[in-house]
Amino acid sequence: MKAGNFVIAIDGFSSCGKSTVAKALAKQLNFVFVDSGAMYRAVTLYFIRHQIDIQNPEAVDQAIENIHIDLVPLPEKTQVLLNGEDISDAIRTMEISEYVSEVSAIKAVRHAMVKQQQALGAKRNIVMDGRDIGTTVFPNAHLKIFMTASPQVRAERRYAELTAKGEVLTMEDVKENLAHRDHIDSTREESPLRQAEDAIVLDNSEMNQEEQLEFVVKLVQDRL
Ligand code: C5P
Repeated sequence: MKAGNFVIAIDGFSSCGKSTVAKALAKQLNFVFVDSGAMYRAVTLYFIRHQIDIQNPEAVDQAIENIHIDLVPLPEKTQVLLNGEDISDAIRTMEISEYVSEVSAIKAVRHAMVKQQQALGAKRNIVMDGRDIGTTVFPNAHLKIFMTASPQVRAERRYAELTAKGEVLTMEDVKENLAHRDHIDSTREESPLRQAEDAIVLDNSEMNQEEQLEFVVKLVQDRL
């Protein structure tokens, strides 16, 4: 292991609990945690607010130039800033979830985000979760985990999370959104969601958070 630069990539389908595991793991190891999905969500919020036409490459390029995202680690959560504004809650709505995969499939958006993500992990011990971390962002990551869970379990978790925040929606809405995002994420041309050949699969359908953390910590220890 190169001192100060151990990279853990956690990829997988929507709502598999990637961020929860990644966050707990980073805390336990004292690594930096980066939720790459939050960055795509921030771009999507900007696109919606400024009514950027995603079919217009010039408008997209201009928008990307105007977007500055910061991830600020606080004791209780990571704050997401879009051009200085705290948008941590604004990016977790169903409106963003419904559009984020379309925005994330745009090549120019991906290139800009991947570059920033690579810079974040260049000289640090890091846990990053997303869809293409082990395949594109850090193909040489020291540990790659591919998370999955049954569609029913994923929908139930997501539904509970959104309704707890006061969103009014049905289980069917959530299921459709997850299937929609997984489809676009897996079939897009640029860095589609897929399991890296050297990734270890973690199916957490029947595991609680402690069990998942124990599973990944053991994998890290084996590699240190
Ligand atoms: O992880 P989260 O569900 O918040 O990600 C939101 C969306 O951002 C995903 O559905 C996907 O379209 C996109 N994404 C991506 N590549 C990543 C992380 C997220 O395309 N590395």
